[in-house]
Amino acid sequence: MKEMKLTYKDALVSWDDMWETAYTVADYTRHLSDIAGEQGGRYEEPESSINLPVDAEIYAAVDAVAERARTTFLKYIIVVGIGGSNLGTKAVYDGIRGTLDPFFEPDRGETPKIIFADTTSPRLLGDLEVFLERSVEVPKEVLINIVSKSGTTTETIADFEVLYSFLEKHFKGDEDVKKSVVVTTDRDSALWKQAEEKGFELLAVPKNIGGRYSVFSAVGLFPLLLAGINVKEMLAGARAMRERCIQSDVAKNPALSSAVLTYLHNQRGASISNTFFFNPHLESVGRWYRQLLGESIGKKYAFGGEEVNAGITPIISIGSTDLHSMAQLYFGGPKDKFTTFVYAPEESKGIVVPHESVFPMLAQGIGGKEVEEIMGAIFEGVKEAYKKNGLPFIEASLPDTNEYALGQFLQWKMMEMMYLAHLLNINAFDQPDVEDYKRETRRILHEGR
Ligand code: PA5
Repeated sequence: MKEMKLTYKDALVSWDDMWETAYTVADYTRHLSDIAGEQGGRYEEPESSINLPVDAEIYAAVDAVAERARTTFLKYIIVVGIGGSNLGTKAVYDGIRGTLDPFFEPDRGETPKIIFADTTSPRLLGDLEVFLERSVEVPKEVLINIVSKSGTTTETIADFEVLYSFLEKHFKGDEDVKKSVVVTTDRDSALWKQAEEKGFELLAVPKNIGGRYSVFSAVGLFPLLLAGINVKEMLAGARAMRERCIQSDVAKNPALSSAVLTYLHNQRGASISNTFFFNPHLESVGRWYRQLLGESIGKKYAFGGEEVNAGITPIISIGSTDLHSMAQLYFGGPKDKFTTFVYAPEESKGIVVPHESVFPMLAQGIGGKEVEEIMGAIFEGVKEAYKKNGLPFIEASLPDTNEYALGQFLQWKMMEMMYLAHLLNINAFDQPDVEDYKRETRRILHEGR
């Protein structure tokens, strides 16, 4: 199996309800299908992000810059960006490289590592300076990719300024520091113009593509490609999923199915969406989805101006870790959640609990078992407990957690969001209230309180 499988037999929604609700958005399904049929790099609609995985021009531009930046010296890529400008990249990077990646030091000639600098924190930036001081000897060993669609996000600009001035000082004005910067931004932003004047390498984000839908643009593609992630496979997975998610038959369309089920449960009072991952290295994928659902659906006004205060609160759970912190609430607490389990059986890698155990009587039945088998048993156990407690869930079975599978997952969720917002009659693509805090922050920093 290469394709993600979505199972909704335990969603506690009748097939008739599902089908009837899907039918109400039939026009929108056709709209997405029409956009997917467009030829060549047009990004006129907010939904046009679904064309990123087929955009050969964007891939070629990213590849050319990555080719220039790639040297046998390069050890670290620092992605300076926040929200939609780094969460997708981190989701894929952590999903592929795993949670212990920071402990493996790269040797020269090996694929570089990505370090993420998002919020403005003295601790984070201070530690990063110490780390760079100890770990890089020449500018060619490090590359800063500053990513900001608007080009004016305070945290991103502040982090970049701190890190760039540190590198200039550390390398005593070496001209190569300037060559160690790639700026990813909107072609019309002030950042683009100023970066161009300074002679930094530039990559564009298509105009109508918002941050949380931009992972398959230069925003995600450049750092991932440079770090040696198989971006072509990721895009192939996204393309395969896109084809499924423009089908008019809800049974064949995973994005439409999950959107309809989330919508119906929300109408019945489920105000929380719990995405429950049983592969711990997918936690960052969950954080990416949290932004996607939170920002896309959390809206004060519906189309037409009616005040609706719409929103579904996204939470992420990690199996089995969070069974030991949240399961009591899930099983015993209010029935206000709709859960999506996400699981890809992992290769066992020969990791087995020994037959001859140190504590033979403490956890019986594990001796000689592969760790993966134990996780599989926990996953099945949790689903049984959900069923017994009458808690609704769907299950996304991933074939793997490789690039192809992650490409499918991200595309599925972005298209799910489009359908869900359409069902709720709200705009999935803006974030007026985030802009509010950004404006206020700029005013306070500029004029004082
Ligand atoms: O989804 C969004 O649009 C936001 O979360 C932005 O990505 C985030 O605020 C960062 O903005 P920018 O890329 O303009 O720096």
